[in-house]
Amino acid sequence: MNSLRKVTLGLAGFGTVGGGLVEILQKNKAELEARAGCQFVLKTVVVRDPSRVRAVALPEGTRLSTSLSDVTDDPDIDIAVELMGGIEPPRSFILRALEQGKHVVTANKALLAEAGEELFRLAGKKGVRLLYEASVAGGIPVIQTLKESLAGNRIQSVEGILNGTSNYILSEMSSNGKDFATALADAQARGYAEADPSLDIDGHDTAHKLVLLIRLAFGVDYPYSQMPVQGIRNMDSMDIEFAREFGYRVKLLGRVRRTEKGLEAGVFPVLVRHTYLLARVGGAFNAIRIEGNAIGSLFLHGLGAGALPTGSAVMSDIVAAARGTMPFNTGFAAPLHTADIVPPADAVSSYYVRFMIKDQPGVLHALTGDLAEFGVSIAQAIQKGERDDGVPLVLMLHAARVQDVQSALDKIAARDFLNAPAVAYRVMD
Ligand SMILES: NC(=O)c1ccc[n+]([C@@H]2O[C@H](COP(=O)([O-])OP(=O)(O)OC[C@H]3O[C@@H](n4cnc5c(N)ncnc54)[C@H](OP(=O)(O)O)[C@@H]3O)[C@@H](O)[C@H]2O)c1
Repeated sequence: MNSLRKVTLGLAGFGTVGGGLVEILQKNKAELEARAGCQFVLKTVVVRDPSRVRAVALPEGTRLSTSLSDVTDDPDIDIAVELMGGIEPPRSFILRALEQGKHVVTANKALLAEAGEELFRLAGKKGVRLLYEASVAGGIPVIQTLKESLAGNRIQSVEGILNGTSNYILSEMSSNGKDFATALADAQARGYAEADPSLDIDGHDTAHKLVLLIRLAFGVDYPYSQMPVQGIRNMDSMDIEFAREFGYRVKLLGRVRRTEKGLEAGVFPVLVRHTYLLARVGGAFNAIRIEGNAIGSLFLHGLGAGALPTGSAVMSDIVAAARGTMPFNTGFAAPLHTADIVPPADAVSSYYVRFMIKDQPGVLHALTGDLAEFGVSIAQAIQKGERDDGVPLVLMLHAARVQDVQSALDKIAARDFLNAPAVAYRVMD
């Protein structure tokens, strides 16, 4: 007879992550009881289609339901776990569960990025926990790291590879010479990318996660709608190859740094020097580099998705909620205020720029002049190999204001020696 205190769970969503969580609850039962000092009882699991065959069997005694109120309104349930995904019904489910005084655990980055404020406010008012370790970088414990482990730091910057699908595509293009369409089809065949991969390859999934990391690192709300986002949909193998020749790998990064004028943040494909750890993160892995004024540089690397890694993160939140300690849900005691944001045009970056030009004299001279007019200078240049659509001319630009680079490129766009619009990517210094 088990004499441990019982903590009762209700789960909404029994797909990839829900299945991983249920597997961990059963497989690691002894470790969980030893660590948390309680016995977890999964009372209810809610799904859309109860007739579907599941990869994981439910524990004996767990009830399968199609009604979300069987979790939110059941007074026996201490912790409600939301693993459905999307904005509704998860938003209403979480609000109702918090209203009923339950702790809530979720992996839902889209919801927390777009509507997190009202959820955190209600959780604070009700004195319950709203935990979300699995919402950023799957199995990597970055939320807890920022919230607890780095509480002694003034955070200077956070940058990360936060989307495994995009990283897999870029890695395949770089290491195996695939073009974008082939690498994407490959990611879909392996189950990394959704049938509609837009959220991943257009950078919005990374942006959702970056909004959450900014909250935890700086204690401010950076409105999702104001985040500059550039994805990898139009990535050309040619640019991956030129980047390699200059000694860089292209990575889709979520980045934020503290400046005197406020936070500079965004999601962009970035050329990262091949010797940096972030450049070496391959395949579907995720990684985050955090710079704090006490710890210096910290690097986290691991599996950013999948049933068991993500289930592991969800389980860590359940254990934390069951242990009953009560840190602030956002990581900060004070209510969050809106971030001071450096307008994206005023940010400063080095650039990689590729032009497709007609092979004629005077082009480099004209380009140099147009760039210089806006105070932008060239660090390196290569011109190579004629193609049907012209000759690629690649410039590496010294750090400059984003608006100045854009203005120079706008001026160059009108030049008659250009065969196609210029391609520009940021370079990590
Ligand atoms: N997959 C990953 O590796 C990963 C990593 C990090 C974070 N996440 C996040 O984790 C969450 C879950 O992702 P997932 O990949 O596990 O999703 P999934 O495999 O699509 O599973 C979703 C589950 O939610 C259930 N569901 C959906 N709408 C429902 C509704 N209206 N009422 C009741 N049940 C409903 C589905 O029921 P049926 O089974 O009956 O259809 C299914 O069991 C998402 O927020 C996602 O962003 C996922």
